[in-house]
Amino acid sequence: MQPMRIGVIGCGNISGIYFKNLCSVFGNVTVAACADLDASRAQARAAEYPGVRVCPVAALLADDTIPLIVNLTTPKGHYPVAMQAVAAGRHVYGEKPLTLTRAEGQKLLDAAARAGVRVGNAPDTFLGAGIQTCRRLIDEGVIGEPVAAQAFMLCHGHESWHPDPEFYYQTGGGPLFDMGPYYLTALVTLLGPVRRVTGSARISFPERTITSEKKRGQRVRVEVPTHIAGVMDFASGAIGTLTTSFDVWSSEAPCIEIFGSEGSLSVPDPNGFGGPVRLRIKGEKDWREVPLSAGFPGNGRGLGPSDMAEAIRAGRPHRASGELAYHVLDLMHAFHDASAMGRHVMIESTCERPAPMPPGVFDGRWPA
Ligand SMILES: NC(=O)c1ccc[n+]([C@@H]2O[C@H](COP(=O)([O-])OP(=O)(O)OC[C@H]3O[C@@H](n4cnc5c(N)ncnc54)[C@H](O)[C@@H]3O)[C@@H](O)[C@H]2O)c1
Repeated sequence: MQPMRIGVIGCGNISGIYFKNLCSVFGNVTVAACADLDASRAQARAAEYPGVRVCPVAALLADDTIPLIVNLTTPKGHYPVAMQAVAAGRHVYGEKPLTLTRAEGQKLLDAAARAGVRVGNAPDTFLGAGIQTCRRLIDEGVIGEPVAAQAFMLCHGHESWHPDPEFYYQTGGGPLFDMGPYYLTALVTLLGPVRRVTGSARISFPERTITSEKKRGQRVRVEVPTHIAGVMDFASGAIGTLTTSFDVWSSEAPCIEIFGSEGSLSVPDPNGFGGPVRLRIKGEKDWREVPLSAGFPGNGRGLGPSDMAEAIRAGRPHRASGELAYHVLDLMHAFHDASAMGRHVMIESTCERPAPMPPGVFDGRWPA
């Protein structure tokens, strides 16, 4: 079977790993063309991969040999670029967050449904071996009934390393919209959808100074909360807490822990694909590491669109779906809304838990 031809729009920082994986790790897809508002970025990326055509966005979308678009623009570009792709009759997989607002997210899903095309969205790290192994343990009842979960993403922002970090402090950025999708997508994969949330949020530093090389010394005005503490009630009855922050210099808090009626599960960093997965069942004296037993163990960014291509061919639902990303977007807005309004917010959206990856560690080649 010929690999599905993908068009990449947005050839910045994160596009490197996508190109590598889509061109050489996941055998069912390949990058056929790429585009960027800054053509030199598209040219630079394409130069690494012979055969990848560089063209303007409109020309890329007009090429009907390319059924699937991967949208790696910054958050403000997610909605307009995805809508253009859908209008051209293409399936589209985007970086996170799905869109900036709930209204845009809903319009995108509606437009795609009307056009008969699919929407997929990052993150796809939950298809990695770490989260998939945790999923298997929970589904097999190893920790009993999940009672609660706690999750922490605490750091001091991205202006120390990202060459163009402004978007992290504008609408669509902040620790919740930037990093929350990894945590919330993992939690929804593990525990199912959420029915209500509450939370508190603040901007601790109204201005930040870039210390990465290109823009060293430039100041960035902070438009979005940078420390958010949220509480969520899962439809299953489990209670989760999530703290995301760009205001913390150091912390020893775990990434995610799930507490069950029979024991506790230490979930690896959901911003990665690997382990370690650790377990401690009631009565055991210490934590023990569990071998990874499902999902992709390496840096597998691009596994989402690869799964989407496979799902389109097989006529099955894809895992990193627009519905899942919309539920996550809804939760992130609801944490901010709850803080502003001083109350719980009921969550109107829901989604299915995505299907688990096939058993066994995945090597990038889909079973025939
Ligand atoms: N950098 C990371 O480590 C990282 C990791 C995971 C996810 N992401 C996500 O990936 C996305 C991109 O991040 P990045 O770090 O690569 O940003 P970046 O600024 O390095 O690159 C984005 C590129 O998109 C292009 N672009 C923006 N709007 C466009 C449009 N309308 N049409 C065509 N091109 C357009 C820009 O010119 C730029 O080259 C963001 O949503 C980010 O949250 C980034």
